[in-house]
Amino acid sequence: MSARKNTWSTEDLQNLDNTYQMHPWSAMGKESYGLDVFDSASGIYMVNRDGERFIDGPGGMWCVNIGHGRREIGEAMTHQISQLGYASPWTSTTEPSTMLARRIAEETPGDLNTVFFTTGGSSAVDTALRFVQFYNNVKGRPEKKVFISREKAYHGSTYLSASVSGKERDRKFLDTNTDFVRFLPNVNPYTRPDGMSVEDWRDAKLADLENMILEVGPDKVAAFIAEPVLASGGVIVPPEGYHQGCLEICRKYDVLYISDEVVTGFGRLGHIIASEKVFGITPDIITCAKGLTSGYVPMGAAIFSDRLIDEIRADDHADILFSNGYTYSAHPVCAAAALKNIEIIDQEGLLEHVREISPHFQDRLKQLGEKHRIIGDARGMGLIGCLEGAVAPGMPEEKRLGIDLEFGELINAATEKRGLLVRPIINMCVFSPPLVISREEIDVMFDILDEAIAEVEAEMLS
Ligand SMILES: Cc1ncc(COP(=O)(O)O)c(C=O)c1O
Repeated sequence: MSARKNTWSTEDLQNLDNTYQMHPWSAMGKESYGLDVFDSASGIYMVNRDGERFIDGPGGMWCVNIGHGRREIGEAMTHQISQLGYASPWTSTTEPSTMLARRIAEETPGDLNTVFFTTGGSSAVDTALRFVQFYNNVKGRPEKKVFISREKAYHGSTYLSASVSGKERDRKFLDTNTDFVRFLPNVNPYTRPDGMSVEDWRDAKLADLENMILEVGPDKVAAFIAEPVLASGGVIVPPEGYHQGCLEICRKYDVLYISDEVVTGFGRLGHIIASEKVFGITPDIITCAKGLTSGYVPMGAAIFSDRLIDEIRADDHADILFSNGYTYSAHPVCAAAALKNIEIIDQEGLLEHVREISPHFQDRLKQLGEKHRIIGDARGMGLIGCLEGAVAPGMPEEKRLGIDLEFGELINAATEKRGLLVRPIINMCVFSPPLVISREEIDVMFDILDEAIAEVEAEMLS
């Protein structure tokens, strides 16, 4: 046992945590959180202070793509720190950040070759949105400022990225800018009216975008921002052809397309960048983070089409500054970690592995949906999955609200005691395990889910 373990008990740490820390999405009414205290992790497993081992179903927060405990990342960072721990991105550059920018540019489609490094996903989205505002100001059309986003979208926690996030509950007690943001209605095919085909649903969703642009006025709409798969909004996979249709509409009205690949990038769908390879689109700007460093250190990036940069460079704009950036932009130690992360993805064939095992993952997920009456929808793509609860026929009245509000928590409690963590989101639970997960481990994970759902189902139907 390490000295640290001897010094502080789990309870001590939880008490100190309650006293001194505020965590993301803290419920302010709660006096005590009793959060899990983890001590170590390796591969797809996390171990708490009592030595209990759990499969990390959410992959941290959709980010631990190469798995936990990779010493190579630590070694790459240690080497970089001993060589050069920091250099100002304002006045200098470094080999790791330059090599990383080049590698990302090689992976992004079309002419998206200009990489701006940030400190995470929110700052990547913030940078993308600020760049669009800047671009239109420089081009002499300051009225072209409206961003179109979608209900259930999540793009981050800065003022600007939260302003384009469409999760209703998150907007409740926080101010966001509503002057220049519009939201399209839910694109989830699961919510389409009875009898409507998925193709008709897709066309209706495309019409929503076109109508919104026309309603606001194309000369006022700056950009459309979309996650290829809406992740935190409940793993919403839009119908086939949706993104291509959206891009065509954007092109028709001179509206820029920002593809937010913070979750989908770096392997989750079997490719470093999914926009073109999975969804057939070459957007104008791509944002990424999370899997870029597999969560080992904070880093994100916004990647811009050279066309946009060239348009700004043209004429006599040499003296205009894009005054946006962070002390830790292009951080050499984070870049070294990201380069090692990509090397591991390459050397271990993780993209091929994800493409190979995803059908099995998705099959097992769908089977749960078919088998259990309290599952309304089982959906996903690549190595992302979501189970959405539903009130089953015959369920006692007093239990129904539990499914609507607590399905995720109930499933999480039932899986946790069987050694699996999932991420509860109100009436859903989602998972995106490390990409190194094997076929056998996928089976263990879904066997646990199967048992856990059966337990919750029995309780809810009694
Ligand atoms: C699609 C998407 N964009 C942006 C973000 C914000 O990233 P971060 O939490 O690194 O700031 C997230 C975080 O979950 C996300 O899922």
